[in-house]
Amino acid sequence: MKYQYLFLLIIGLYLSILIPTFASYEEPIYDHSAYTECKSVPEDALYNGGIMKDYWTNENGVIRSETNSYNFVLNNLSGDTIYSFSSWVRILDADSAVIKASLKTANGTVKCVGNVIARPGCWSFLKGGFVLDFPSSYALLYLQRSDGEKLNISISSVSLQPFTYQQWKKNQQDTIDKGRKCTAIIHISDVQGERVPGATIIVEQVSRDFPFGSAITKTVLGNPAYQTWFKERFNAAVFEDELKWYSTEPQQGEVNYTIPDQMLEFVRKNQIITRGHNIFWEDPRYIPSWVRNLTGPDLKSAVTSRIQSLMNKYKNEFIHWDVDNEMLHYDFYEQRLGTNTSLEFFQTAQQLDPLAKLFMNDYNVVETCYDMNSTVDAYISKLRDLKQGGIFMHGIGLEGHFTVPNPPLIRAVLDKLATLKLPIWLTEVDISKNLDKETQARYLEMVLREGFSHPGVNGIMLWTGLHSNGCYQMCLTDNTFHNLPAGDIVDNLLKEWQTGVVHGETDEHGSFSFSGFLGEYKINVKFGNRTVNSTFSLYRGDDTRHLNIQL
Ligand SMILES: *[C@@H]1O[C@H](CO)[C@@H](O)[C@H](O)[C@H]1NC(C)=O
Ligand SMILES: *[C@@H]1O[C@H](CO)[C@@H](O)[C@H](O)[C@H]1NC(C)=O
Ligand SMILES: *[C@@H]1O[C@H](CO)[C@@H](O)[C@H](O)[C@H]1NC(C)=O
Ligand SMILES: *[C@@H]1O[C@H](CO)[C@@H](O)[C@H](O)[C@H]1NC(C)=O
Ligand SMILES: *[C@@H]1O[C@H](CO)[C@@H](O)[C@H](O)[C@H]1NC(C)=O
Ligand SMILES: *[C@@H]1O[C@H](CO)[C@@H](O)[C@H](O)[C@H]1NC(C)=O
Ligand SMILES: *[C@@H]1O[C@H](CO)[C@@H](O)[C@H](O)[C@H]1NC(C)=O
Ligand SMILES: *[C@@H]1O[C@H](CO)[C@@H](O)[C@H](O)[C@H]1NC(C)=O
Ligand SMILES: *[C@@H]1O[C@H](CO)[C@@H](O)[C@H](O)[C@H]1NC(C)=O
Repeated sequence: MKYQYLFLLIIGLYLSILIPTFASYEEPIYDHSAYTECKSVPEDALYNGGIMKDYWTNENGVIRSETNSYNFVLNNLSGDTIYSFSSWVRILDADSAVIKASLKTANGTVKCVGNVIARPGCWSFLKGGFVLDFPSSYALLYLQRSDGEKLNISISSVSLQPFTYQQWKKNQQDTIDKGRKCTAIIHISDVQGERVPGATIIVEQVSRDFPFGSAITKTVLGNPAYQTWFKERFNAAVFEDELKWYSTEPQQGEVNYTIPDQMLEFVRKNQIITRGHNIFWEDPRYIPSWVRNLTGPDLKSAVTSRIQSLMNKYKNEFIHWDVDNEMLHYDFYEQRLGTNTSLEFFQTAQQLDPLAKLFMNDYNVVETCYDMNSTVDAYISKLRDLKQGGIFMHGIGLEGHFTVPNPPLIRAVLDKLATLKLPIWLTEVDISKNLDKETQARYLEMVLREGFSHPGVNGIMLWTGLHSNGCYQMCLTDNTFHNLPAGDIVDNLLKEWQTGVVHGETDEHGSFSFSGFLGEYKINVKFGNRTVNSTFSLYRGDDTRHLNIQL
């Protein structure tokens, strides 16, 4: 007996220690604020500055540097910690410059933290972050021009906020609960309209609202094992290569859509939505060699017949079109046909199919902050140019070919892009094949959790199309459809992000409530010898969905 009391006492102590610990997971709440306009006055520091709140500033809260970089000395950074960084930046003596924030730890490791295109006379917002796997007794966080040239840089409202992994994950869970789920209240009444307490309810999610898919290859054709594996998991697809110009017209004039037609048949039959990838690709390595040989009017006419042929044939078939792939990195067509060529591609696409959803698609925007061709601000500025040219853009495509993901940078970039209020899609997610399969899986999970939980993200596509000789960087399965570690991650997340089957009984008011992931549901209600089957949907934007069922 006495031992039992002792046991309870220990449990009591244990709980009283645990409860405040749980409570502390609530703080800090991640701040999604972001700005893309250059402002005359900087906003206040996020998190009131976080652990940089006491950092020295001059009378106006501005730190001015007249050298080529500004260094903040940080003491005692912890390992296993996610640091979210933000700052406002202004420059002198240049029209515009990319300012990069980097971190150098005590043992000399350098990490990219974030970047911003800064301008003279107004303040631009830099947001990013870093993760330390190991503690660092001191570190330098420095801001400098990306090319290392000297420049007068002013900095204001700096903030560095640490998060534990649990806090970071808790914030993801909160945004998922808010953005990907919805509460449903089911009211059961009898023929007289009287409420029915004690009715048995079985609810089951039968489809998901959130598009989650993968690239497929022509290997899927005539391959029932691949087809079954795919349709059991995914509601969205993209053809890896089969729609690209080099596939549909390998020799000039020999246009052949047989393969994409057959692939379309497969996705259509299984109600899998599919992205159109791509009309043009600016990287010369992937331009058909006969096109690379053309110039002037010949090139112009080849380009015109490509876009007309493809878009007329597949009008209304694809949910998106990647119009001009990787235009932040390459400019094959503009070099040869003039500076407005990519704008004209978008204009033509818009004219040929006014209902088509036009996307930009590029890499190293969300993956890293090392690539100065594709900074988040460069992407935004290109979107603004297109808008100014009369293009109605429908979405932001981020390829997502990662090596080592940096979660606070991913979130910061998504925060900035989300201010444009266009749907963001991760279009080609994978992890570099230079990493072992377990590490690929671990990093994939980080990226997918970051993507699914971000309020601005509307769809995620993996770049895991299976060929007879493997995949581009990362496969989910082997060639007999047995999961590799990355496949286990995807299967676990698919399970976690759907409601499954919910059992219950109506309460004394004849109602039953549950919180479910957005999508289609079927419901079975039983009371005595009566039973009713029905279906309903939980949509984005529903506050609480009320559903009345009469027995
Ligand atoms: C950093 O940690 C060490 C050891 O715990 C401590 O002696 C030192 O005062 C700390 N430095 C700062 C600036 O907090
Ligand atoms: C610094 O230390 C970490 C952890 O021990 C290690 O992974 C990293 O490679 C080191 N960096 C350098 C430049 O030595
Ligand atoms: C920075 O500004 C100061 C004062 O206006 C000026 O003397 C100096 O040349 C500037 N430095 C650079 C690198 O432009
Ligand atoms: C078109 O492609 C299909 C599949 O590769 C091939 O079987 C067919 O012969 C091609 N048609 C022409 C006219 O080349
Ligand atoms: C491209 O031009 C080169 C040089 O004139 C020629 O050798 C080659 O065969 C051409 N390639 C194609 C695909 O037309
Ligand atoms: C990126 O930008 C640099 C400098 O503007 C340029 O030289 C390079 O070719 C660009 N393209 C790629 C693919 O990095
Ligand atoms: C490019 O397009 C812009 C906007 O439509 C226009 O103002 C400009 O004159 C065009 N430039 C050329 C070289 O055609
Ligand atoms: C169903 O149950 C009600 C009430 O218990 C009873 O009156 C009725 O006859 C039953 N109907 C059938 C088809 O069994
Ligand atoms: C109603 O749904 C249940 C459970 O899904 C099923 O077993 C039953 O056959 C369905 N009944 C009708 C009439 O569709």
